[in-house]
Amino acid sequence: MGQQQVLEETISQLIHPGKGILAADESAPTIAKRFTAVGVESTEDKRREYRSLMFSTPGLGDYISGVILYEETLDQLSLDGEPMAALLQRQGIVPGIKVDKGKGPLANAPGDEITFGLDGLEERLLGFREQGARFAKWRDVYHITDTNPSRLAMEANAEILARYAAVCQSLGIVPIVETEVLIDGHHTIERCAQVSEAVLREVFRALDRHGVGLEGMLLKPSMVTPGKSHTSQASPEQVAQATLSVFRRAVPAAVPGIVFLSGGQTPEQATANLHALNQHAPQPWQLSFSYGRALQEPAQHAWAGNLENGPAAQDALHLRAKLNSAARNGAYKPEMES
Ligand code: 13P
Repeated sequence: MGQQQVLEETISQLIHPGKGILAADESAPTIAKRFTAVGVESTEDKRREYRSLMFSTPGLGDYISGVILYEETLDQLSLDGEPMAALLQRQGIVPGIKVDKGKGPLANAPGDEITFGLDGLEERLLGFREQGARFAKWRDVYHITDTNPSRLAMEANAEILARYAAVCQSLGIVPIVETEVLIDGHHTIERCAQVSEAVLREVFRALDRHGVGLEGMLLKPSMVTPGKSHTSQASPEQVAQATLSVFRRAVPAAVPGIVFLSGGQTPEQATANLHALNQHAPQPWQLSFSYGRALQEPAQHAWAGNLENGPAAQDALHLRAKLNSAARNGAYKPEMES
């Protein structure tokens, strides 16, 4: 198989109808925050127990096509002593890997951040591919204020994101290009739309500059919503309309799939919004999910650090995966929550 065919094969698995991606790639500091919220101290062993439980959820592969892993997890064995990537493959799930190294302040751009991790990327990717990873993720983050994100931040982040995507494709690894316009703040949905469109236009300019094949990548954006502290929240239909009008302007039709992040929406909101988006099908791209918190939060509460709660935690993950699968087909109903 040629490299292009390898990429397209992985993508068709990832955007399989009725399935989406589980983002379980929280870095050590982020997963510590999630564990603290349910009263668990984050140790290497606890992270292994929790993720092993999640990935061995019976029937998970019916709704989940891919899982994004953190480096540490790719090196770990499941509770049954099997490499985590092998466990996922046995479930019919494609293993992927987060490859960015987090973010920090961008010099000369007050309030903006830049994502790190290009140094040594090719070598690291080769190692991850050896361990079974077939796709990768890199996250760029944009803060909204009256003056952020600056043009400098949009250009610098887009450039780096495109370089990451080009390296992935050269190795037959599908790049997930993640642009998270943060939900924090009191901005309006219109301001979010304006920033999201500017960010996406800049990213696709950079992808073009670097020769990234649009058919061989997936986009992982945030939905267009008002800020979390805005006086009123938007309905799923308002979110769907605002999101689609931005994406139809800024995302080329050659991109096979848009896999949204949940970005601080509640699990129910993230499902209802995805459903509303899919009510407007067909669109040029598959509209799917790559949720972290919105898939895992109820499972983390059910688990609470106790192995005996494993089956309850798996049930909670299974339910959210199933409901998002329904939303992906525009077939979710709030009654299905109970
Ligand atoms: P959330 O769905 O919790 O935003 O996580 C998705 C993700 O991968 C963020 O990088």
